[in-house]
Amino acid sequence: MFGIRGKVGVGIDLSFDRVKVCKMAKKKDKYFLLSLGEKKISPEPLRDDEKEAWTGHAIEGIKKLLSEHKIKEREVYASVSSNSVVIRYLKLPFMPASELREVIRFEAEDHIPFEVEQALIDFHITKEFVDKEERMMEVLLVAAKREAVNSYLDIFQKAGLEPVYINVDTFATEDAWSIGEEGGVEKEGVIALVDIGARTTNINIIETNASSFNRDIMVGGNDFTDAIKEEFGLAFSEAEKTKEERGGLLLGEEYTTITTTESGRVSYAIESVATRLLDELDRSFTYYYTQLPSYKKNIDRVILSGGSANLSNLTTFFSNGLGIDVMVARPLQMIDLSKSVGLSADLEKKGCAFATTIGLALRGLLTS
Ligand SMILES: Nc1ncnc2c1ncn2[C@@H]1O[C@H](COP(=O)(O)OP(=O)(O)OP(=O)(O)O)[C@@H](O)[C@H]1O
Ligand SMILES: [Mg+2]
Repeated sequence: MFGIRGKVGVGIDLSFDRVKVCKMAKKKDKYFLLSLGEKKISPEPLRDDEKEAWTGHAIEGIKKLLSEHKIKEREVYASVSSNSVVIRYLKLPFMPASELREVIRFEAEDHIPFEVEQALIDFHITKEFVDKEERMMEVLLVAAKREAVNSYLDIFQKAGLEPVYINVDTFATEDAWSIGEEGGVEKEGVIALVDIGARTTNINIIETNASSFNRDIMVGGNDFTDAIKEEFGLAFSEAEKTKEERGGLLLGEEYTTITTTESGRVSYAIESVATRLLDELDRSFTYYYTQLPSYKKNIDRVILSGGSANLSNLTTFFSNGLGIDVMVARPLQMIDLSKSVGLSADLEKKGCAFATTIGLALRGLLTS
């Protein structure tokens, strides 16, 4: 395979609106991108209650995408959406992992809104600390309904695949950042990874290299598109095109044109949604500060990913509103792109939209 003999990882990020694939190889300590691509599942966003139609579209979408990219591997790394699982950070007296394994199901009972018997549970000790002279630990608990995960797996199996690892999209995005991006100043301090997808914006706050807070905001790219659709009276697909080609916020002197020019009106529409998102981010960060007094630290940097992070000037808009540095993720920064087939310059630029998918492929390389 292109002269690279090493491990191969295939990540598939299936959302309600699109499916994305990333295939990577690892040789010695170097990562090579082999394929990166996406396919929309349906031209217009499906309603949340059109789950059955979605399943059929998803199976077809996966098959077509893999065939277009000539991906023959059957073993893939996939993720479920953070809003379909329960994520909790438990503070417990320190105990060895073997003991924790015994007690975690009892602990989980207090934290998950469904029967533990129906749940798939995973956990991970994220940090140890001392509180009032007692040795404590923080445990990241993830629970999903077994039935929901099984029907998700079913989609991949019907597409002829064998998922060998199911992550949660928010933690796959974190993998892209922690494994795929360059180290240095950006990794220090408290980092908020904010992934703005089509329906959901996920916040994952990383403190001392471990996830410490996670929340979904039900605002995303489809809301930006809807605002443009309303402003210009366009069909959804036309509004989406306008957004992806020219979407952004006018700032400074240009701001005075928001009612008179086309780009001004696009900016005006986008600002209405960006303001909602900014308020929700601000609220979540305030909650994070107040809920975690023992770790109380300011967020040093916000890193945006997801397709909507491509909106121009969104970083400046959030940075001005939050008073925190905001930048766009660069998950392909450390990856050798020279072996990738048909990677357009555009896709390379849009790496931030593929953060979750890249994180899945990287995880595949680390664990396979
Ligand atoms: N260049 C661009 N400018 C603005 N928005 C863009 C651009 N490219 C993609 N988007 C938007 O990004 C969104 C898709 O992002 P992403 O692929 O991260 O979402 P998703 O993973 O399908 O959804 P979710 O994570 O919410 O389940 C869409 O709303 C799309 O219109
Ligand atoms: Mg996503």
